[in-house]
Amino acid sequence: MFITFEGPEGSGKTTLIGKLAQYLRAQGRDVVVTREPGAGPFGSEIRRLLLESGDLPPTSELFLFLADRACHVAQIVRPALERGAIVLCDRYTDSTLAYQGYGRGFDRELLRRLNAMATKELVPTMTFLLDLPPAEGLARLTRKDRLDAETMDFHERVRAGFLTEADRAPHRFVIVDATRCAEVVFDEVALRLAQLVDED
Ligand code: TYD
Repeated sequence: MFITFEGPEGSGKTTLIGKLAQYLRAQGRDVVVTREPGAGPFGSEIRRLLLESGDLPPTSELFLFLADRACHVAQIVRPALERGAIVLCDRYTDSTLAYQGYGRGFDRELLRRLNAMATKELVPTMTFLLDLPPAEGLARLTRKDRLDAETMDFHERVRAGFLTEADRAPHRFVIVDATRCAEVVFDEVALRLAQLVDED
């Protein structure tokens, strides 16, 4: 079972994923927590290039995210799914649509094809979109990377883009109001996840 978590910066994804992993492991489940960009040794090199280099042409940025994804899916996600693990992944293909598509203006149909190529068409079982206004998310950050430093207009487009993508695939997306406190968000997502795991 492949579960992804999407949303703007400071939406609390990372903390939430950690707690969900603990909760599922306590039930005896095999859980793999991973993220994009930056999983594995290759991924961490790409992550450094992506988030810490100065000016990077948007096309280079796009291909670095895709390079990270292709390696991540082949070397980490697929092997874990094949042995029956629940994979909880912090960002995936929808981030490319939101940031490089709605944010940077790349053609979204092209991005869908590139995502399909990078993942060999691996689509998440369920995607939790932690939604909150960008100003609120950015205010929660203690350290800003290259993308966090983008304009507010960029972050507004990213948020709207995530919501549009969620509308396009309502069977896969669950929109979660991330302005609420972390415990309430956790309870809601854990309940949904428990239902999914039980159905499996
Ligand atoms: P990260 O520190 O992991 O952000 P967060 O904690 O908010 O998840 O940095 C990842 C950054 O990369 C984030 O700003 C979103 C961006 N990103 C893209 O622009 N495209 C992508 O395909 C992915 C996976 C991430």
